[in-house]
Amino acid sequence: MISAPRGTRDILPAESWQWAFIVRTASQVMDSFGFREIHLPVFEHTELFARGVGETTDIVEKEMYTFNDRGGRSITLRPEATAGVMRCAIENNLCVQGASAKLWNWGPMFRHERPQKGRYRQFYQIDAECLGIAGPMADVEIISLSLELFRRLGLKNLEVVINSVGCEKCRPVYRQKLIDYFSAHKESLCETCLDRLERNPLRILDCKKEECGKIADGAPDIFDSLCPECREHFAQVRAGLERLGFPYRLSKRLVRGLDYYTKTAYEILSGNLGAQNAVAGGGRYDNLASAIGGGKIPGVGFACGLDRVALVMEEQGCSFGEAPAVQVYCAALDEASRGDVQVLTHELRKAGISAECDTAGRSFKVQMRNAGNCRFACIIGESERENGSVAVKDMKEGSQESVAVSEAVRYIQDRV
Ligand code: HAM
Repeated sequence: MISAPRGTRDILPAESWQWAFIVRTASQVMDSFGFREIHLPVFEHTELFARGVGETTDIVEKEMYTFNDRGGRSITLRPEATAGVMRCAIENNLCVQGASAKLWNWGPMFRHERPQKGRYRQFYQIDAECLGIAGPMADVEIISLSLELFRRLGLKNLEVVINSVGCEKCRPVYRQKLIDYFSAHKESLCETCLDRLERNPLRILDCKKEECGKIADGAPDIFDSLCPECREHFAQVRAGLERLGFPYRLSKRLVRGLDYYTKTAYEILSGNLGAQNAVAGGGRYDNLASAIGGGKIPGVGFACGLDRVALVMEEQGCSFGEAPAVQVYCAALDEASRGDVQVLTHELRKAGISAECDTAGRSFKVQMRNAGNCRFACIIGESERENGSVAVKDMKEGSQESVAVSEAVRYIQDRV
């Protein structure tokens, strides 16, 4: 038996309608904020992620699905969406001469991580990016957008954690401070953090190991190193969040796993997820465009994990709206009626009524069992064929009426 690769899973009908609800809700919220949907390739040139996400990130170093295609080009299954959105904006001139673009997309992402609850190798993100705007109001819009999505989905007990990771002016200074500080604590750092010390010391702040965490708690505070511009930007973001009434927690240890961030970084955490507790993450990335060769396009965005949101909603007993159900089941009492039953099903569908009939030659008894999930059953047998009628059974009330075939569609239309 060939099974699905580790870290991937099949989303079956019992779950897929819940996903559809989440995506539909996201689409409505995005529309209401003026974000427009785009569709992007799921694979890109490897260089896009190496330069965009960053050579020293775990994603690029260890987690990408990279292969040479038949033309010998290095291709990578996208591990995230932001670099692709920026590539798309540059390639399609969406942000020329100061224009801005508010774009969203959703779909599968691929990371070769160790699978666990809420962490998969193929997972799905709903992603929104606001390109071309440098000011802090855009950051507040993005955080507000993510929170409105979760409010509409009914998620409870979420925590917003924010930080500023500085810019190309102030981060090198902070980076050096961290190298100096952590070098003095080398003996207590885990192997991964030792490896990060020179290459990406900010990531040590994010280490989940207890020992490293203790040392990171005492690390120099990034807020003390921010340049006046970054400091002012962060103050404005915080003021904006406060004006909108969004509580948040400041965390100097929130650095995120992607190198493109500048200034604002944030995550939304849920208590329902165990170790993989982020339902969304995002922030500002003013240098991503230039890193991938596209000049100066500031940006800010977020992505939420669809798999994780569905998990949390399930655990919190959130509503996914109504499960899809077919309204009418058309059943044949005898073999000779099967054709008429399919015609009636067709007429109902043309009138916008969802309808099903048996196409597998199942017995009347089995057909009626299936009809149990529907609002009405339309039954045709020999006598109905003879007098041009259909027996309409109300599956809720149990009552039954004989209706002329020509009237059947209208009869049901009036009652569903
Ligand atoms: P990220 O924090 O890597 O950010 O991912 C965003 C969200 O995707 C996470 O909070 C989580 O819910 C979900 N996620 C990530 N990895 C997995 C996984 N292996 N399995 C299941 N869910 C996962 C980004 O990807 C950035 N591109 C976000 C962003 C957009 N920043 C600016 N704009």
